[in-house]
Amino acid sequence: METRTIIITPEQMHAQDGYCQRIRELWSQRGITPTAYVETYGCQQNEADSEQIRGLLENCGYSICNQAEGADVVVFNTCAIREHAEQRVFGNLGALTHTKRRHPSQKIFLCGCMAGQEHVAQRIRRSYPHVDVCFNPHHLWQVPEYLWRVLNRKERVFATEEVPGVIAEGLPQRREGKIKAWVSIMYGCNNFCSYCIVPYVRGRERSRKPEDVIRECRYLIEAGYKDITLLGQNVNSYGKDLGLGVDFADLLAEIAQIPGEFTLRFMTSHPKDASFKLFDTMSKYPNIAHHFHLPVQSGNDRILKEMNRHYDRAQYLKLVEYGRSVMPDIVFTSDIIVGFPGETEEEFEDTLSLCDQVRYDALFTFIYSPRKGTPAASMPDPTPKEEKNRRFDRLLDLQNRISMEKHRDYVGKTVRVLVDGTDGDLLTGRTDGGRLVRLPGDPEKLMGQFIPVHITGCTTWSLTGEPV
Ligand code: 5AD
Ligand code: SF4
Repeated sequence: METRTIIITPEQMHAQDGYCQRIRELWSQRGITPTAYVETYGCQQNEADSEQIRGLLENCGYSICNQAEGADVVVFNTCAIREHAEQRVFGNLGALTHTKRRHPSQKIFLCGCMAGQEHVAQRIRRSYPHVDVCFNPHHLWQVPEYLWRVLNRKERVFATEEVPGVIAEGLPQRREGKIKAWVSIMYGCNNFCSYCIVPYVRGRERSRKPEDVIRECRYLIEAGYKDITLLGQNVNSYGKDLGLGVDFADLLAEIAQIPGEFTLRFMTSHPKDASFKLFDTMSKYPNIAHHFHLPVQSGNDRILKEMNRHYDRAQYLKLVEYGRSVMPDIVFTSDIIVGFPGETEEEFEDTLSLCDQVRYDALFTFIYSPRKGTPAASMPDPTPKEEKNRRFDRLLDLQNRISMEKHRDYVGKTVRVLVDGTDGDLLTGRTDGGRLVRLPGDPEKLMGQFIPVHITGCTTWSLTGEPV
């Protein structure tokens, strides 16, 4: 099998523009502006991919709408991390038989991580005949071609074969909002954590060239975006495949020096690759948020080994300690899997004690979900579901207590907040560390502004305050 990253050439991209043009002509002959609806499941990478899908559909003449009913194209961009997410998609996909019956020319696309699994593609082929196109994340740049094929030749398209990885530069993007932007710096993952499906569906790690990433960030900052998040499954291994001698900390430093008022963030970091140099870089540039999402997954060394994580509890704690020594105000957040196959009560308690020791500002907690084809799926898993649920609740209780205590510490302090939304009559914003803040104020004046906010109250999940 091919193992190199496949770089899509300008000629190939140009050919896609040709399909866009033909589709636009087809609709303009009918005198209709077609509509498209894109629904996203899962992580920020999928959100970023959906922005490109919307951009491509706009180039094909489609206007983006916000419901499947009546849309000429419906795209489900899916997540495969847990079974629950997949079941939801199958359920919602089933419901599309009705929207299609009411609008028979509707074209339905299924893409994203679910579509990267052969057994899903087979099920779609057999049992979901109303789905017209099924393609994995490597084929996103070919949306115009697939759309042309289903409109013109009335055939079903399946592009789900495994490839090592694709990079397509220069795709259009229809960004959600004008304040926050995602920028993918790399794709895929090489880590093969034993529970995780991502390396199978998103292929091998491959980095975008530094100049392409920097150009995109510069463009966004000049366009007025205030909050930029660099995205990758494991940003700490950025650049290793390029051989240019540029690592993630170097890239971050370059972007931080672009002139303008903005906050720079990144996710996700794998602890085995996080370096002290990265913490030093974060502390050096004031516009890099002091927030580190550093998924630990478990606090027990045997489980970490079974998960194939390549670090132990002590190494992880050293990273946290170093981060705090150079940035006392750094916010750590984490992902945790409860009920990994064979996890004992004592091993779970190691996770509790680690969380108690680190005192994360927030946790994303998951009950282990077996994924077909991953090593963990064939490990013995004797713990009953009820017991896993109990462990999950205990972890949540602990975290809620810590979050509340941490939030109480904010009360009486003044923090910098980027106002980026509304909730009823109030404005909402985020601190540098990513805490949600509600405050009164005039959206006309304050939206998209960094302002000092005096924190007056809190709940487990948010802070409240007054602009100073
Ligand atoms: N079951 C439960 N949680 C999982 N994650 C990844 N794979 C699984 C799985 N099979 C979680 C990990 C990861 C986050 C994005 O999703 O905690 O960091
Ligand atoms: Fe999955 Fe591990 Fe890669 Fe994260 S680092 S995407 S958990 S395999």
